[in-house]
Amino acid sequence: MTRLSVNLNKVALIRNARGGNLPDLVQFAQDCEAFGADGITVHPRPDERHVRYADIPQLKEVVKTEFNIEGYPNDRFVEMVLSIKPDQVTLVPDPPGVLTSDSGWDTITNAQRLKDLCLQFREAGIRVSIFLNPIERMVEGAKKVGTDRIELYTGQYAKQYPSDKEKAILDHIAAANLASQLNVGVNAGHDLNLNNLKYYAQKIPGLLEVSIGQALISDALYFGIQNTIQLYKYLLIH
Ligand code: PXP
Repeated sequence: MTRLSVNLNKVALIRNARGGNLPDLVQFAQDCEAFGADGITVHPRPDERHVRYADIPQLKEVVKTEFNIEGYPNDRFVEMVLSIKPDQVTLVPDPPGVLTSDSGWDTITNAQRLKDLCLQFREAGIRVSIFLNPIERMVEGAKKVGTDRIELYTGQYAKQYPSDKEKAILDHIAAANLASQLNVGVNAGHDLNLNNLKYYAQKIPGLLEVSIGQALISDALYFGIQNTIQLYKYLLIH
Protein backbone atom coordinates (compact mmCIF):
# COMPACT_ATOMS: atom_id res chain seq x y z
CA MET A 1 0.00 0.00 0.00
CA THR A 2 1.13 3.55 -0.71
CA ARG A 3 2.06 5.48 2.41
CA LEU A 4 0.76 8.99 3.01
CA SER A 5 3.38 11.40 4.34
CA VAL A 6 1.91 14.72 5.44
CA ASN A 7 4.08 17.74 4.62
CA LEU A 8 3.83 20.23 7.51
CA ASN A 9 5.39 23.28 5.84
CA LYS A 10 2.11 25.17 5.48
CA VAL A 11 1.22 24.52 9.10
CA ALA A 12 4.53 26.12 10.08
CA LEU A 13 3.80 29.02 7.73
CA ILE A 14 0.61 29.87 9.65
CA ARG A 15 2.44 29.64 12.95
CA ASN A 16 5.27 31.85 11.69
CA ALA A 17 2.82 34.56 10.59
CA ARG A 18 2.25 35.53 14.25
CA GLY A 19 5.53 34.69 15.93
CA GLY A 20 3.98 32.50 18.65
CA ASN A 21 3.41 28.76 18.72
CA LEU A 22 -0.09 28.49 17.26
CA PRO A 23 -0.68 26.05 15.68
CA ASP A 24 1.76 23.87 17.62
CA LEU A 25 3.72 22.03 14.94
CA VAL A 26 4.89 19.23 17.19
CA GLN A 27 1.38 18.52 18.49
CA PHE A 28 0.06 18.72 14.93
CA ALA A 29 2.55 16.10 13.77
CA GLN A 30 1.53 13.76 16.57
CA ASP A 31 -2.15 14.29 15.78
CA CYS A 32 -1.59 13.61 12.06
CA GLU A 33 -0.07 10.29 13.01
CA ALA A 34 -2.93 9.52 15.41
CA PHE A 35 -5.39 10.26 12.57
CA GLY A 36 -3.67 7.83 10.21
CA ALA A 37 -0.74 9.57 8.51
CA ASP A 38 2.01 7.10 7.64
CA GLY A 39 4.73 9.70 7.78
CA ILE A 40 5.64 13.33 8.39
CA THR A 41 7.59 15.42 5.89
CA VAL A 42 9.29 18.77 6.41
CA HIS A 43 11.14 20.90 3.90
CA PRO A 44 13.32 23.52 5.60
CA ARG A 45 14.16 26.31 3.17
CA PRO A 46 17.14 28.61 3.57
CA ASP A 47 14.97 31.56 4.70
CA GLU A 48 13.07 29.32 7.19
CA ARG A 49 9.74 30.80 6.12
CA HIS A 50 8.10 27.39 6.65
CA VAL A 51 9.52 24.81 9.04
CA ARG A 52 12.55 26.10 10.94
CA TYR A 53 15.75 24.23 11.59
CA ALA A 54 14.96 24.56 15.31
CA ASP A 55 11.69 22.60 14.84
CA ILE A 56 13.41 19.56 13.48
CA PRO A 57 14.93 17.96 16.61
CA GLN A 58 11.57 18.32 18.39
CA LEU A 59 9.75 16.67 15.52
CA LYS A 60 12.29 13.88 15.35
CA GLU A 61 11.59 13.14 19.00
CA VAL A 62 7.86 12.66 18.54
CA VAL A 63 7.41 11.24 15.04
CA LYS A 64 6.81 7.51 15.38
CA THR A 65 5.89 6.61 11.79
CA GLU A 66 8.38 7.81 9.17
CA PHE A 67 10.23 11.10 9.29
CA ASN A 68 11.21 12.49 5.88
CA ILE A 69 13.33 15.63 5.57
CA GLU A 70 13.51 17.12 2.11
CA GLY A 71 15.52 19.99 0.80
CA TYR A 72 18.41 21.41 -1.11
CA PRO A 73 21.66 19.81 0.09
CA ASN A 74 23.72 22.84 1.10
CA ASP A 75 26.24 22.37 3.93
CA ARG A 76 23.80 23.41 6.64
CA PHE A 77 21.14 20.99 5.40
CA VAL A 78 23.54 18.06 5.07
CA GLU A 79 24.96 18.61 8.54
CA MET A 80 21.48 18.86 10.08
CA VAL A 81 20.23 15.69 8.37
CA LEU A 82 23.31 13.73 9.42
CA SER A 83 22.82 14.78 13.03
CA ILE A 84 19.03 14.21 13.12
CA LYS A 85 19.10 10.89 11.23
CA PRO A 86 15.55 10.87 9.85
CA ASP A 87 14.20 7.71 8.21
CA GLN A 88 14.53 9.32 4.79
CA VAL A 89 16.16 12.33 3.20
CA THR A 90 14.75 13.61 -0.10
CA LEU A 91 17.24 15.66 -2.10
CA VAL A 92 15.66 18.52 -4.04
CA PRO A 93 17.53 20.83 -6.45
CA ASP A 94 15.80 24.05 -5.31
CA PRO A 95 17.72 27.22 -5.89
CA PRO A 96 17.61 29.38 -2.71
CA GLY A 97 14.55 31.66 -2.59
CA VAL A 98 12.41 29.57 -4.95
CA LEU A 99 8.68 29.65 -4.20
CA THR A 100 8.31 25.89 -4.42
CA SER A 101 10.18 22.96 -5.98
CA ASP A 102 9.25 22.78 -9.64
CA SER A 103 11.78 20.47 -11.22
CA GLY A 104 13.86 17.40 -10.45
CA TRP A 105 17.60 16.80 -10.54
CA ASP A 106 19.64 16.36 -13.64
CA THR A 107 21.23 13.15 -12.39
CA ILE A 108 23.80 13.17 -15.18
CA THR A 109 25.38 16.60 -14.80
CA ASN A 110 25.15 16.34 -10.98
CA ALA A 111 26.24 12.69 -10.85
CA GLN A 112 29.38 13.08 -8.75
CA ARG A 113 27.75 15.35 -6.19
CA LEU A 114 24.70 13.10 -5.84
CA LYS A 115 26.91 10.04 -5.55
CA ASP A 116 28.88 11.60 -2.69
CA LEU A 117 25.66 12.62 -0.93
CA CYS A 118 24.02 9.21 -1.33
CA LEU A 119 27.09 7.53 0.10
CA GLN A 120 27.29 9.90 3.04
CA PHE A 121 23.61 9.54 3.99
CA ARG A 122 23.42 5.80 3.39
CA GLU A 123 26.51 5.23 5.54
CA ALA A 124 24.66 7.10 8.30
CA GLY A 125 21.72 4.70 7.93
CA ILE A 126 19.43 7.24 6.25
CA ARG A 127 17.40 6.18 3.23
CA VAL A 128 17.92 8.51 0.25
CA SER A 129 15.34 9.63 -2.26
CA ILE A 130 16.16 11.90 -5.22
CA PHE A 131 13.52 14.26 -6.60
CA LEU A 132 13.18 13.65 -10.35
CA ASN A 133 11.19 14.61 -13.39
CA PRO A 134 9.70 11.48 -14.99
CA ILE A 135 12.45 11.04 -17.59
CA GLU A 136 13.95 7.61 -18.07
CA ARG A 137 17.53 8.87 -18.54
CA MET A 138 17.25 10.63 -15.21
CA VAL A 139 16.02 7.43 -13.55
CA GLU A 140 19.03 5.56 -14.94
CA GLY A 141 21.26 8.34 -13.63
CA ALA A 142 19.63 8.11 -10.22
CA LYS A 143 20.33 4.38 -10.10
CA LYS A 144 23.97 5.02 -10.98
CA VAL A 145 24.51 7.50 -8.16
CA GLY A 146 23.28 4.90 -5.67
CA THR A 147 19.96 6.23 -4.42
CA ASP A 148 17.44 3.99 -2.65
CA ARG A 149 14.43 5.75 -4.09
CA ILE A 150 13.29 8.46 -6.45
CA GLU A 151 10.48 10.93 -5.84
CA LEU A 152 8.69 11.69 -9.08
CA TYR A 153 7.74 15.36 -9.46
CA THR A 154 3.97 15.37 -10.08
CA GLY A 155 3.48 19.11 -10.69
CA GLN A 156 3.11 18.72 -14.47
CA TYR A 157 0.90 15.66 -14.02
CA ALA A 158 -1.41 17.69 -11.76
CA LYS A 159 -1.54 20.54 -14.26
CA GLN A 160 -2.45 18.27 -17.17
CA TYR A 161 -4.74 15.93 -15.24
CA PRO A 162 -8.01 17.88 -15.75
CA SER A 163 -7.62 18.03 -19.54
CA ASP A 164 -5.91 14.70 -20.37
CA LYS A 165 -5.12 12.39 -17.49
CA GLU A 166 -4.13 9.45 -19.74
CA LYS A 167 -1.44 11.56 -21.38
CA ALA A 168 -0.41 13.16 -18.10
CA ILE A 169 0.44 9.81 -16.52
CA LEU A 170 2.38 8.22 -19.41
CA ASP A 171 5.88 9.44 -18.54
CA HIS A 172 5.29 8.56 -14.90
CA ILE A 173 4.37 4.97 -15.74
CA ALA A 174 7.48 4.58 -17.89
CA ALA A 175 9.76 6.13 -15.25
CA ALA A 176 8.24 4.04 -12.45
CA ASN A 177 8.50 0.81 -14.46
CA LEU A 178 12.13 1.47 -15.19
CA ALA A 179 12.82 2.32 -11.56
CA SER A 180 11.33 -0.95 -10.37
CA GLN A 181 13.34 -2.91 -12.96
CA LEU A 182 16.43 -1.19 -11.57
CA ASN A 183 15.36 -1.96 -8.01
CA VAL A 184 14.87 1.69 -7.09
CA GLY A 185 11.79 2.53 -4.99
CA VAL A 186 9.29 5.12 -6.19
CA ASN A 187 7.78 7.99 -4.18
CA ALA A 188 5.85 10.91 -5.66
CA GLY A 189 4.85 14.40 -4.72
CA HIS A 190 3.79 17.92 -5.62
CA ASP A 191 0.30 19.25 -6.27
CA LEU A 192 -1.35 15.93 -5.54
CA ASN A 193 -4.89 16.43 -4.29
CA LEU A 194 -8.25 14.76 -3.71
CA ASN A 195 -9.03 14.84 -7.45
CA ASN A 196 -5.83 13.54 -8.99
CA LEU A 197 -4.40 11.22 -6.32
CA LYS A 198 -6.48 8.08 -6.83
CA TYR A 199 -5.73 7.82 -10.56
CA TYR A 200 -2.02 8.36 -9.93
CA ALA A 201 -1.82 5.70 -7.23
CA GLN A 202 -3.78 3.20 -9.35
CA LYS A 203 -1.59 3.70 -12.40
CA ILE A 204 1.88 3.78 -10.87
CA PRO A 205 3.16 0.32 -10.14
CA GLY A 206 4.58 -0.15 -6.66
CA LEU A 207 4.17 3.49 -5.57
CA LEU A 208 5.66 3.44 -2.08
CA GLU A 209 4.87 6.90 -0.75
CA VAL A 210 3.24 10.21 -1.58
CA SER A 211 4.07 13.38 0.29
CA ILE A 212 1.34 15.98 0.23
CA GLY A 213 1.19 19.44 1.79
CA GLN A 214 -0.52 22.35 0.06
CA ALA A 215 -3.78 20.68 -0.97
CA LEU A 216 -4.08 18.51 2.12
CA ILE A 217 -3.64 21.37 4.57
CA SER A 218 -6.04 23.52 2.49
CA ASP A 219 -8.64 20.72 2.53
CA ALA A 220 -8.24 20.54 6.29
CA LEU A 221 -9.64 24.09 6.53
CA TYR A 222 -12.93 22.70 5.25
CA PHE A 223 -13.00 19.13 6.55
CA GLY A 224 -10.70 19.21 9.57
CA ILE A 225 -7.35 17.44 9.63
CA GLN A 226 -8.69 14.10 10.92
CA ASN A 227 -11.29 13.74 8.15
CA THR A 228 -8.87 15.04 5.54
CA ILE A 229 -6.21 12.46 6.34
CA GLN A 230 -8.85 9.74 6.18
CA LEU A 231 -10.07 11.04 2.79
CA TYR A 232 -6.56 10.91 1.32
CA LYS A 233 -5.87 7.50 2.83
CA TYR A 234 -9.10 6.16 1.38
CA LEU A 235 -7.99 7.17 -2.12
CA LEU A 236 -4.73 5.30 -1.67
CA ILE A 237 -6.49 2.08 -0.77
CA HIS A 238 -8.52 2.30 -4.04
N1 PXP B 1 7.81 16.92 -2.67
C1 PXP B 1 8.71 17.92 -2.72
C2 PXP B 1 10.11 17.60 -3.08
C3 PXP B 1 8.34 19.23 -2.39
O1 PXP B 1 9.24 20.21 -2.43
C4 PXP B 1 7.01 19.48 -1.99
C5 PXP B 1 6.62 20.87 -1.58
O2 PXP B 1 7.29 21.22 -0.40
C6 PXP B 1 6.10 18.41 -1.97
C7 PXP B 1 6.54 17.14 -2.32
C8 PXP B 1 4.67 18.59 -1.59
O3 PXP B 1 4.02 19.36 -2.55
P1 PXP B 1 2.60 19.99 -2.26
O4 PXP B 1 2.77 20.96 -1.13
O5 PXP B 1 2.21 20.61 -3.55
O6 PXP B 1 1.70 18.84 -1.87
